[in-house]
Amino acid sequence: MSIRFSEEKLKKVNEIIARYPEGKQKSALIPLLHMAQDENSGWLDAPAMDYVAGLLNILPIEVYEVATFYSMFNTKPVGTYLLEVCRTGPCMLNGSDDIIEYIKEKLGISEGETTTDGLFTLKPAECLGACGYAPMMQLGKTYREHLTKEKVDKLIEELRGKAKN
Ligand code: FES
Repeated sequence: MSIRFSEEKLKKVNEIIARYPEGKQKSALIPLLHMAQDENSGWLDAPAMDYVAGLLNILPIEVYEVATFYSMFNTKPVGTYLLEVCRTGPCMLNGSDDIIEYIKEKLGISEGETTTDGLFTLKPAECLGACGYAPMMQLGKTYREHLTKEKVDKLIEELRGKAKN
């Protein structure tokens, strides 16, 4: 079953569409996909993308092309916490490979997988624009920087605690 935005969110959708010239409503696609992803537990399935296509009066394929191109959109289900560890040059030179391996081992998952309790998904990412804080990861709307194994332990403990409450 597809998502449906509330009245309030539809108002926001219309506001976003109105930022662009008449006939250029497709320009609102990325912000709408973010809204749809938030509404759909952090990922975009075909019905959610079709819903966005309907809102913008564009073809579903136009939405799929964008959603599958950008790594900030997930086209598979993700856990409550998405650990997006940067693996590009500066992060790699500062040990991101070790961090990724450590997380894999600690959580018993491979890249792109979710733990059986549905809490964590590990998703290696390309440069997230915080190279000076390497190695780093994105966690929702926050960045976790200068990662070490100890910091990863603490973070996972913190998130498991949060999930219990
Ligand atoms: Fe990791 Fe830029 S290389 S944030």
